[in-house]
Amino acid sequence: MTVAIDLERMLRRLHLPTVRRLYSELECRAEKEGMSYRDYLEILIAEEVAHRAQTRIERSVRRARFPFLATIEDFDFTFQTSIRQQLLGSYLGPELVSEARSVVFLGPSGTGKTHLAISIAYRAIQNGCEALFVDADHLLQKLSRAGEVGSLRDVLPQYVEPDVLVIDEVGYLSHRPDAANVLFQVVNERYLKRRPMVFTTNKPPASWGRVLHDSDLAEAILDRVLERGRLIELRGPSYRRRHIPGRADEPQRGEAEGAPPPPAKEEGRKRRDGQPFGRRAGFAQPEPVRISGKRRSEFLEPTALRRETDVTREYQSDSSSKRPVSSAPFASLSKKRQRPR
Ligand SMILES: Nc1ncnc2c1ncn2[C@@H]1O[C@H](COP(=O)(O)OP(=O)(O)O)[C@@H](O)[C@H]1O
Ligand SMILES: [Mg+2]
Repeated sequence: MTVAIDLERMLRRLHLPTVRRLYSELECRAEKEGMSYRDYLEILIAEEVAHRAQTRIERSVRRARFPFLATIEDFDFTFQTSIRQQLLGSYLGPELVSEARSVVFLGPSGTGKTHLAISIAYRAIQNGCEALFVDADHLLQKLSRAGEVGSLRDVLPQYVEPDVLVIDEVGYLSHRPDAANVLFQVVNERYLKRRPMVFTTNKPPASWGRVLHDSDLAEAILDRVLERGRLIELRGPSYRRRHIPGRADEPQRGEAEGAPPPPAKEEGRKRRDGQPFGRRAGFAQPEPVRISGKRRSEFLEPTALRRETDVTREYQSDSSSKRPVSSAPFASLSKKRQRPR
């Protein structure tokens, strides 16, 4: 009895909450199944490591302030045929951050720009990085106000420090007169520190000068973003209205890459929902993180970096499900690992 109390205390002292939660239950199971001491210990420690990785991802997702959680696995490339998943390969691996691969997603409303931007940032989080999502207009307003009161230098770091910065909806609303100037500060600092940026916009690069009210600075911004990055154009109908039967904008499945942009009706369609550009219904109200109205996230997907989550992956591969380990005690306990003592 005394030993059990001491063990609890020591586990608490060593900050091993998962081991503390599971050791006794696993002990019964180990006895029943004749598990070796080594396997018992290995499973407990693996569960602790997996739980920590899971907690870190959840914390980073909260910090990233995504408007919704979207993963690349949720993206329907058979609907959005103007892009192939392979094209996004380098944005979904560790080279996004290590090689500062920026990207600008350009396209009309509903083509999945924000979804893809979030997917990239989310994958970076899974790969052990930190990300931040910010609405362009909010960012520019905040920086502009900070500039007015002389505190720009204090505000900038929060947008420069994250490994990945998503700036959503450039050009959807009319930006402030000093937009180019303040945006340049963020872009330039990140460029100098070799940190990637992900932009979404409905305006082609040639219009950024007008949108940001300074064509020279807009060019300097795009130069820096595209030096190690690329512009990816999304075309086609809005995914938001895919359920409307017999609509004229039925997606052309199998449409060849590089197909001509859709006709001018795109412009009219953007406004039909009665919302100003980029203001999704519900966007303003804080919602719990969700995956684009589909199923919930499965954390701990394979990562390309050899970090703590790799241990999890090893164990998860033994498990038949991809549940978060925290909610699946002993997910890692497989037949293969059970050896008689
Ligand atoms: N190809 C797609 N596959 C799955 N979901 C999509 C796709 N395109 C868009 N969506 C979903 O439709 C909604 C609108 O997409 P979003 O990325 O916000 O569009 P955009 O930023 O281009 O206006 C989101 O909930 C997103 O998850
Ligand atoms: Mg968007």
